[in-house]
Amino acid sequence: MMQDKINQYTAEIKAANPANAAELEEFRIKYLGTKGIIKDLFDEFRTVSPEEKRVLGKVLNEFKQLAEAKYAELKESQESRAKSQDIDIDLTLPGEGFELGSRHPLSLTRIEIIDIFKRLGFVVAEGPEIEDDWHNFSALNFPEEHPARDMQDTFFIKKNSGKDDIALRTHTSSVQVRMMESGKPPFRAIMPGRVYRNEAISARAHCFFHQVEGLYVDENVSFSDLKQTLYHFVQELYGEGTKVRFRPSYFPFTEPSAEMDISCTICGGPGCNMCKYTGWVEILGCGMVDPNVLENCGIDSKKYTGFAFGMGIERITNLKYVIRDLRLFSENDVRFLKQFQTEII
Ligand code: DAH
Repeated sequence: MMQDKINQYTAEIKAANPANAAELEEFRIKYLGTKGIIKDLFDEFRTVSPEEKRVLGKVLNEFKQLAEAKYAELKESQESRAKSQDIDIDLTLPGEGFELGSRHPLSLTRIEIIDIFKRLGFVVAEGPEIEDDWHNFSALNFPEEHPARDMQDTFFIKKNSGKDDIALRTHTSSVQVRMMESGKPPFRAIMPGRVYRNEAISARAHCFFHQVEGLYVDENVSFSDLKQTLYHFVQELYGEGTKVRFRPSYFPFTEPSAEMDISCTICGGPGCNMCKYTGWVEILGCGMVDPNVLENCGIDSKKYTGFAFGMGIERITNLKYVIRDLRLFSENDVRFLKQFQTEII
């Protein structure tokens, strides 16, 4: 009976498990070959009665499909097994390695600045880049509608009456306020971050840049503490022997205020392009925290005094690496960035 044979072959095919290519080929020849079982069955099919044909036609076709599918499946699994065995893994070969990126020069400078101040006991604090009027201006003693606010070209996000204004912070001095409001003296912190000003982008100006703010508030903090701290900072950053000088200046939040210059890091004094032939370059603003600012932040200005300073990280970086175009810092040109390949710190 054909049906019985087909049943038997079906079971055989389902169980077939050729161990190698030769056995697989035997399987193919046995069932699917030109003189194989399927060919025989089709020959036999031609001889059966029409009634039987009606039933067996379908059975036979299904059987043929099963044999073909099984063969395809076995072949595929043997091939993929062979492929994975082909890969010769030599574990003694050196690895391919991957290219290490480099730190952005501004990050290098920021890390270095933080490091110096950390050794003096300063902690690092941060604040939001979107600021309200109070933290960016009012608490820092900028009088309302006073031209002092024009010192900084502000990007306003919401501009109402002054008090409710929301803006991109124009300086990191806002973080001083946040810090003093939320804690108790003594404070000794540096506050790095990005700041924004509405300036046309050029080699010398950008609409965003980076600052580090410093704040030291305690009993009996004096201007000489300020001078000594900043003097030490400059020696650490630019090397022993770098000279400093303080020039009187004005900031609403410090009294007295000063700007600090250092002897030109490029020419060392005689004068060059970088220092505009003066031998000096300005690197930061500083001063004694105005008592109004302390009071605005809930700190007793009779008991506590403090100093503050703020510097631009771009400027400090330019003086270290002689970079003359600010735009390089934000263009992400790897040819520029690659030059700062340093050990990752
Ligand atoms: N906030 C000032 C600026 O952006 C820099 C500055 C000056 C910060 C004097 C200070 C300071 O803390 O005491 O130009």
